[in-house]
Formats: sequence, C-alpha cells, structure tokens
Amino acid sequence: MCGIVGAVAERNVVEILLEGLKRLEYRGYDSAGVALLDQSGELRRVRRIGKVQELADAITAENGLGTTGIAHTRWATHGGVTEANAHPHTSTERIAVVHNGIIENYLDLRQKLSNQGYTFSSDTDTETIAHTVNEVLKTSSSLIEAVQKSVKQFYGAYGTVIMDREDPSRVVVARSGSPLVIGLGLGENFIASDQLALLPVTRRFIFLEEGDVAEVTRRSVSIFDHNGNAVEREIVESSVEHDAGDKAGYRHYMLKEIHEQPTVVRNALQGRLGDDDIASDLFGKDADNILKDVKHVQIIACGTSYHAGMTARYWLEQYANVSCNVEIASEFRYRKSVVHPNSLLVTISQSGETADTLAALRLAKELGYMSTLTICNVPGSSLVRESDLSYMTKAGAEIGVASTKAFTTQLTAFLLLTLTLGRYNGLTEEHKQNMLKGLHSLPAKLEETLTLSANIEMLAEEFADKHHSLFLGRGDQYPIAMEGALKLKEISYIHAEAYASGELKHGPLALIDEEMPVIVVAPNNELLEKLKSNVEEVRARGGIMYVFADKDANFQGDDTMRVINVPHCEPSIAPIIYTLPLQLLSYYVALIKGTDVDQPRNLAKSVTVE
Ligand code: G6P
Repeated sequence: MCGIVGAVAERNVVEILLEGLKRLEYRGYDSAGVALLDQSGELRRVRRIGKVQELADAITAENGLGTTGIAHTRWATHGGVTEANAHPHTSTERIAVVHNGIIENYLDLRQKLSNQGYTFSSDTDTETIAHTVNEVLKTSSSLIEAVQKSVKQFYGAYGTVIMDREDPSRVVVARSGSPLVIGLGLGENFIASDQLALLPVTRRFIFLEEGDVAEVTRRSVSIFDHNGNAVEREIVESSVEHDAGDKAGYRHYMLKEIHEQPTVVRNALQGRLGDDDIASDLFGKDADNILKDVKHVQIIACGTSYHAGMTARYWLEQYANVSCNVEIASEFRYRKSVVHPNSLLVTISQSGETADTLAALRLAKELGYMSTLTICNVPGSSLVRESDLSYMTKAGAEIGVASTKAFTTQLTAFLLLTLTLGRYNGLTEEHKQNMLKGLHSLPAKLEETLTLSANIEMLAEEFADKHHSLFLGRGDQYPIAMEGALKLKEISYIHAEAYASGELKHGPLALIDEEMPVIVVAPNNELLEKLKSNVEEVRARGGIMYVFADKDANFQGDDTMRVINVPHCEPSIAPIIYTLPLQLLSYYVALIKGTDVDQPRNLAKSVTVE
C-alpha cells in the first residue's frame, strides 16, 4: 500500500528518496512522485503512473536536485490511477504533502476549502491536507503550529509529511492511524512509513506514536503528542536482521522466499526449541505468569495470517485443550462479541501494521481481554508496541506481496504456543513428544519437500488455461487448502475456492467437470479414508484431480488423477509441509500466465487502510 519517504539534508536527497521508494515497491502501488526543495526556494514536483523506475528516469531527465524532499508510492483509494492523483499534492505551489491513510471527512473539507477559493487539481482526499495547512498557516507562526491546528480538522487515518517552499530547512510529520518512523542521520534526518526504506542511510529510528506531530530539521527532531506537549520518544537501533537484498539469483522474490523457508524456520526455532522441551520465555519475560491462566484464545488476523490462525485453532483444541475462536479482523472490530473468561487475544500479522488487525487489538483492550499477544514479523511495528506480549516470527523481510515464508513461520509459532499453553491444560506427554519430534524434523522436511519443485512446474502447464479451481482439505488441512486457493487467485488471477471436503455434497459438486481442476491435500492422518471417499465422489463426476499425498496414503494416479507424493512427516507439522507444494503450484501457474508475481495487480503487501 502507499509508501512515504522524506529527507532533510545538506546533500542532494534525490537518490535517498528514490532508493527508499524502490524498497517500498513491494508493498504494492500504482503511481509514484517526488517533491524537492533547494536553497533557491524552488519547489519541483515530478510524478508518474507506473513503476518507480519511470519516475527515476523522469527525475534524471529533469536533473532533479533538492536538499529537502518528500516522496510517495500511491495505491489508489480516492480517485483513479492518474498522474494528477499521484502524490505529492501541493497548495498554491507553496505547501507539498504526501499522505498514507484516508481523510474520511474530505468531502466536507473540500467544500469548505473551495468556498475559501482553493482550486482542486485532483480527486484525492490528500489534497485537502495541503490546502488546509496552507490556509491555517496564514494565521500561524510556524509550519508545525499550522499542522498541529490542521490535524484537528481531519477525521480518519493519516501518516503525512508536509513541507513549505518558504522554509526548506524543515518538514513536519503527523501520525494518526498510519505508521511513520523518523530515521536519524549525522547532520541529516529522514522519515518513512517503513524502516526498510531507510536502512541504507541509518539504523537509528524513532517510531512516532498515535497523535504525534513532529518537526524534523537536519540537526533536530522535536516531537509533540496529541495534546501538544513536547515529548521524548525512544531511539531504537533497528534489529531488522537482513535487508530485502536482491533476488539471490531467483527470478522473483516470491520464489526466493519459498526456498528460504527451511532456513527461516530453522532460525525461528534456534534457541527456542530444546531437546526435551521448548524455552520457557518464548512470548516475553513474564509471559508464563499470564499464559498459565489462559482458558480461551481469540485469534484475530487478515488474509494469509488468518489462515495461520485457522490452523492454530485445530492445534490448540486438539493438543493443548484450550478452546479457541478465530475471526477476520474486519468482522471482529465491527460486531458485538462476547469475551470468554481468562481469554487471551492473539493477533497475527506479517507486517504488524494491518489497519483492521490493529483496530481489533485496540477494541479488545477496551473489551477487557485478560491479555494480548501478537505473533508478528516486524519488530517495532504498531502491533508489537501495543500488545502486552509479542513473539517475533523471524522470517526476515518478505517482499513478495503473496505471503509465503511469513506464513510457515507463523504456523511454527503457533505450534510453540500450543506446547506452551498445553503445559497448563493437560497436553499429553505423547502429544508433546510427537510435536517436539515434528518440530526438530521440520527444517529438513521442508527442504525435502522443495525437491518436488520440478514436478510441480510440469503440472502447472495444465492450469494455465483454466478459469476456476477447487481446493479440498479436511481437519487442519482445510485452512491449508484455503491458503493454497488464496495463493493461486492472488498471483495467477485464476478463481480458486477452498472447501472442507466434507462439504462437497452441499454445493461444490455441482461445479465439477473437466474444466475445473480439483486440488486435494491428503496427508496420512485419521481423516484419510473420509478424504478418499470425497476424492471418489469427484472422480465419479469426471473431475480432474491433483492430489498432494503422503506416499503411504496409497492414492493410485491415472488419467483423471495426478498424484504428487509429499514426504512423510509427523502429523502435527503436516499443515506446514503441505503448504509448500501449493505455494510452488501457484508460483509456476503465475509464471506461465505471465503475471506480475511479486506485485500482483490491485493488491498491497501491507494494508494500512481499512
Ligand atoms: C495483505 C497481504 C497479505 C497478508 C494480509 C495480512 O492482504 O497481501 O499477504 O496476508 O495483508 O497482512 P498482515 O501483515 O497483517 O499479515
């Protein structure tokens, strides 16, 4: 989704801004722009539809120079994908603004500002910020005062950076609902919506809090809270372990990230998984004091993270004896729900910034949950800072919009949570030992599973001209079928639906014909015979099946059924193992279809608006 980069320096900041935007490209966007100020007092703005590289070429052609600048990648919300709607937006060629989020009362503001004589040159809500600040500046003694007064007029979410042509020595930033981080340099300072954008220039960051407004100059950062009081915010040394880096020889980030899974899962387990047990402080120093009293778990997430939560519900109830509900954040936040006694609210998020998940966490605190835990991949993100307990998935930066390694490390985290909560709720020794055995074998099993790649690449040919597909699974493989379907639709644009295979007779059987591939995940577990009956029901109706199965499951392939043998594994880790072939399948289908695998159309990596 939208990305922000800003800089105040002695040197030309163009390269810093463009490099920052490139590092945010993975979030998904449709246009990009830069506004620059230099000592001559000129405000120069360049915007382009399409990739950041097109913007970079245009700036080079114009010899763009500036010591203060703001830049943006836009993911359209209000107003179509046009150059006029791309950020930065300006007011009377004096004020320039970049903005993430949505100003919900923009129509009222637009009307008011039009009455005051301002002309709008875009359809965006953001332009109202530029004109409002310009107007308020007339009766203010400084840009920061004008911004502090202006934000009182904005309803909705914003992370915004504002600069004034009359004073190139500073920018003013404001945060409410959309993350912003200030990067500290030597004699220069930076702003971004994500620390990844600034890693080439600094590792020292200040994470702004809700309601903060700050003035950033080359040598100073002054922060004021929502009451206008000067505040000090902690300076954090970035612990982001590795940079997005390049594609390491892979054609796409997604493929690289699929292949990184054995390594990141191994890293995630290091120091956490012992020979006979797991470490006791996995979820924070005093976490066990809280977790020992947990009797119910409410999981909240969106997208792929929601599927990790769905899987966790099977594990928490089956092994840890703890009741569990799972809900999509955007539903949870807008309905009245009942809080169970001794209930732990668990949010899961790759980014830690998903707007609905964050809003659900804030609501849960009001509702009186016993405690809150987040399972997250980004240290210092909003969910981590606002939750009582946190667990870092350690997947490393995930660049492909379609989540892969973040998902498998989330599932790994949930197995550890199951073992932890199981301690206090009657996890049997047998289950415990089996799960530990499974976890110890997990990285190697993931490696073995990736050797299926060449087979799956061949299968993918058969999907390229299909328009629909059906994914089937039972038990803890049902959410894996859902995740497989999500991957396929996200990057290959083939309509994919997942069903718990016991539901086949209640509708989806009507869809079966040779044009509808049916993908089945079939580990050798207690539901295998039931699943085999479901497979026969599809076969009897002429469906073409692709069965990912344990070799001991004894599926016999023929013209209507391709069988891909997945390495045998301990049942508790099977959902993690069976995820990989489905990721590879969607990747190779997308490759054949020629889609933009890492940045699929209309999608964003981090959904910071609701
Ligand atoms: C977007 C991404 C998905 C992700 C979802 C939730 O839709 O494209 O890959 O699963 O957001 O994001 P989160 O960062 O909260 O896991």
